Amino acid sequence: MGVVASAPAKVILFGEHFVVYGEPAIVLAIDKRAYATVENRKDNRLYLRSTNLNLAGYFEHGAFKIEQGDLKEARARFEPVKLAVDKILEKCGKNVGLDIEISSSVPVAAGLGSSAAVAAAVAAAVGALLEVNLAKEDILRIAFEAEKTVHGTPSGIDPAVSTFGGTLLFQMDTGFKPLEVNMDIPLVIGNTGVERSTRLQVEKVRNVKEKYSRIMDNVMHAAREIVLRAVDAMKERDLDTLGELMNMNHALLYGVGVSDESLEWLINAARKAGALGAKLTGAGGGGCMIALAKSEKLEQILEAIQNAGGRPFIARKTDEGVKIERT
Ligand code: MEV
Repeated sequence: MGVVASAPAKVILFGEHFVVYGEPAIVLAIDKRAYATVENRKDNRLYLRSTNLNLAGYFEHGAFKIEQGDLKEARARFEPVKLAVDKILEKCGKNVGLDIEISSSVPVAAGLGSSAAVAAAVAAAVGALLEVNLAKEDILRIAFEAEKTVHGTPSGIDPAVSTFGGTLLFQMDTGFKPLEVNMDIPLVIGNTGVERSTRLQVEKVRNVKEKYSRIMDNVMHAAREIVLRAVDAMKERDLDTLGELMNMNHALLYGVGVSDESLEWLINAARKAGALGAKLTGAGGGGCMIALAKSEKLEQILEAIQNAGGRPFIARKTDEGVKIERT
C-alpha cells in the first residue's frame, strides 16, 4: 500500500529565461501530474523505481546500484530524489530505508517541470509516511534544493507552481503571487520529442547576455513589459491580446537562441491552424511549445501539430498543487 502523493506539471505562459535574471514570469499548473508512492523497508536502502522511464536502482552507504535501465540516466533522475529524501530524514532525525515508486504522465526533459513535480510529490509522500510535519513552504524549499542539482541556477519557478498549483506571477526577489484568473486559458501543448537540458539552455542565454549586455538590458525590459501587459489582459479576459503577447515573447526567446527547428515547425503549424498565439515554453531547444486558441479551434490545432510531427495534447489549468492522495 504505502503513502501516495502527487504534484502538477506546469507551463510557463510568459517570461522563461528572463525570470532567471529577476524579471517576472507567469506560470500555470496543468492537469498532468507526477505521483510518488512511498513505503517503509526493512533494510536501510533507498530503493527507487520510475515506472514510465523503466529505471530502478538503490542507494546504500552512499553508493548507487542500478537494477534496471541506463546507469547515467538513472543517476540523473534519482540523485535529486535522494536529496529530497535526505532533507526529510535530516529533519526528523531518522535513518530508515524506503521504497519509492514514481509514475508520471509528465513528459521528461520537455519544459513542463517534470523534475520539480517529482521532487514535490516525493517530499510530500515521504513526509506523510514518516509523520514529519511539512508545510507547503517546506516542500517548496526541499523541491527547490533538488531542482538545483538538476538545473544549476534555477529561478525556483517550477517547484513553486508544482507545490502551490494555480496561476502564479513569479519573480525571484519577491517570490510568487497567485493570480486570480477568471477565464479559461485554452491551450494545446505540443511536444517536439526533442529532449534537451535546461542547464545548457540557461547557459546559452547567459553567454548571449555576457556578449550583448546592453542589447540584453533592452530585451529584458521588453520581456518585463510583455508580462505586465499579459497580467492586464488576463484581468480583462482578453484572449486575443494574450495570444499576440505570446508571439512577441516567443520572438524574444528566438532572438536569444533558445528556439530550434523542431519548435518552429510546431509553432508555425499552430499559428497557421488559427492559434491566437504560440511560443516555446520552458527552456526551449526542443521540449514543448504552447498554442493559445479559442476553444472551438483546439481540435484543429491539435491535428495541425500532430501533422507537423509533434505530440500534442490539450492542457487545462489546475488549482491543485502538491497533495496527499492516500495515506
Ligand atoms: C525552466 O522551466 C524555466 C527556465 O526559466 C529556467 C528557470 O526558471 O529555472 C528556463
